[in-house]
Amino acid sequence: MSEKTMTGKTLFVSGGTRGIGKAIVYAFAKKGCDVAFTYASSADTANEIIADVESQFGIKAKAYKLNILEPLTYKDVYKEFDEDFDRLDFFISNAIISGRAVVGGFAPFMRLKPKGLCNIYTATVEAFVVGAQEAAKRMEKVGGGSIISMSSTGNLVYTPNYAGHGTNKAAVETMVKYAAAELGEKNIRVNAVSGGPIDTDALKAFPNYEEVKAEVVKRSPLNRMGDATDLTGACLFLCSNEASWLTGQAIVIDGGTSFQ
Ligand SMILES: NC(=O)c1ccc[n+]([C@@H]2O[C@H](COP(=O)([O-])OP(=O)(O)OC[C@H]3O[C@@H](n4cnc5c(N)ncnc54)[C@H](OP(=O)(O)O)[C@@H]3O)[C@@H](O)[C@H]2O)c1
Repeated sequence: MSEKTMTGKTLFVSGGTRGIGKAIVYAFAKKGCDVAFTYASSADTANEIIADVESQFGIKAKAYKLNILEPLTYKDVYKEFDEDFDRLDFFISNAIISGRAVVGGFAPFMRLKPKGLCNIYTATVEAFVVGAQEAAKRMEKVGGGSIISMSSTGNLVYTPNYAGHGTNKAAVETMVKYAAAELGEKNIRVNAVSGGPIDTDALKAFPNYEEVKAEVVKRSPLNRMGDATDLTGACLFLCSNEASWLTGQAIVIDGGTSFQ
């Protein structure tokens, strides 16, 4: 799987500076794919990643600042993208908010608040919609493409404090199906990759991180927590010709944790 099968193609992924997004940047770059990614505050990290993937894999990489709480600003970011790249083949909506923006959204049911829930909807569903619309306009020009929304099994399995994220992951998975139904005629496939708990900064922000981690290891028949690189295989597959009739689906990659 190390051949450069994606040479000449371009990926745009949101939130490429950490966790799963960073693993996606490296996985696609390794395949020879040019990579555009976004960051919210980690400009220095973004520049380090660009220098590293360009020198390791001989591809072109660029990073842009984006705030997914302002989804319409995606349009400006895509204008910058157009200055740097002449085609777009793959788009992955991956970035996620945490910290103050999710107060009232990341909480037990009785402490949920409209503002926090709305922020998660904006960052998860609205950002996917605008990012994917702009992607589809560019993919149409090159005869098609593959769009992915990252999702999580928090909409399938009860996870403490996760109601806001879980319900919005369910919503984005349904949005994926609607997009798939309407973009198929442009040869654009749209799917979700739904991960079980993965050891990233987002999960470390859980107040009961150690407890969640121990529970995941116990639940998984594979006896371990997910790693950021565990979701990259599905993303590469969904962006390959091997997935040419696969659209409107959510692929669950959870180390077997959802059935326990
Ligand atoms: N971790 C899990 O257990 C898990 C499981 C399944 C699915 N997922 C999904 O996978 C995706 C990535 O999660 P992760 O765990 O890798 O997250 P993470 O480690 O917290 O990384 C978040 C990324 O989003 C960016 N970001 C943060 N706030 C932003 C904002 N307001 N606007 C734009 N970008 C922003 C960050 O950029 P900066 O570095 O600049 O802040 C960073 O690149 C999410 O959609 C998540 O729901 C996660």
